[in-house]
Amino acid sequence: MLRTALLTASRNRTVRRFVETAPVSRDVVRRFVAGTTVDDAMAACRALAARGLNATLDHLGEDTTEVGHAEATTKAYVTALAHLGDEGLADRVEVSVKLSAVGQALDAAMARDNAAAICAAAAAAGTTVTLDMEDHTTTDSTLGILRGLRGDFPWLGAVLQAYLHRTEADCRDLAYEGSRVRLCKGAYKEPPDVAVQSRLDVSKSYVRCLRVLMEGNGYPMVATHDPRLIAIGRKLVLDNDRAKGSYEFQMLYGIRPHEQDRLAADGEKVRVYVPYGDEWYGYLMRRLAERPANIGFFLRALATKG
Ligand code: FDA
Repeated sequence: MLRTALLTASRNRTVRRFVETAPVSRDVVRRFVAGTTVDDAMAACRALAARGLNATLDHLGEDTTEVGHAEATTKAYVTALAHLGDEGLADRVEVSVKLSAVGQALDAAMARDNAAAICAAAAAAGTTVTLDMEDHTTTDSTLGILRGLRGDFPWLGAVLQAYLHRTEADCRDLAYEGSRVRLCKGAYKEPPDVAVQSRLDVSKSYVRCLRVLMEGNGYPMVATHDPRLIAIGRKLVLDNDRAKGSYEFQMLYGIRPHEQDRLAADGEKVRVYVPYGDEWYGYLMRRLAERPANIGFFLRALATKG
């Protein structure tokens, strides 16, 4: 119930205005978001690199409804990628892009061109890009754009969401040589005809999908904080004789940092998803929805300030 309410609120403009102006929000946001500027993002990446961790940078924003906004987001990515090249961080840091932030809802061709410009900047800097996955109404469009762009940028990463009924088949399609695929549980509110609903069923689907990816020839990116799924991921690596460097683990900024360090100390490649920028609302609401304890954290912070 609470999860559904928060995910519904994540797309409600009135709630958005309230949360964005609540005195507490900035403090809560800081737990999950690296900062607002590109310098904040670089500082977070340097700090992660010092811990032996890799990163993927997300310039916050989604559901763009203006061409100018989509262009500004594209420019922000190009700028961040130039910084990564100049600061010698490109071997450890890539970027993650939401196509809805670069115009997907306005015009798919525009989103594809903007994503291509970001990929070209990544290639120039010496790093890669992953296309985030959003709600199920965008899955076909996102995978279509991915396939088109992989012609020029074969390293372009995909994200698949284990909660969707279609995903095991998508994993099979994308488990080919060189194909980078991030598998996550899925963070949006989806109806039963497209997605499994219980946490157990999502986990079971995650295991089936991960097995397909690990048995295939691609590069699986195991994106979860779930200790059982991480353990299963490591077992599948052994079962399939996967060499180090042929897969990686991924987690979100500010979530289970000790586990990030533990895996890295154990010799695993770990990448942290680092969001930065002003448009944190949708991202924050999805993080709150994932864990009831986060709501307590948010309400306690409100009470303290209020
Ligand atoms: P689960 O939610 O069961 O969490 C397992 C444990 O991790 C919890 O018990 C808790 O300890 C900790 N934890 C998890 N979330 C927490 C939180 N918000 N606050 C505090 N602790 C928390 N989704 C999507 O739809 N499209 C995408 O493109 C991406 N991209 C993406 C990239 C990366 C690197 C990650 C790690 C995740 C995503 N996601 C995503 C989000 C993903 O779909 C999912 O919503 C979250 O990862 C939470 O699911 P877990 O697998 O971590 O399990």
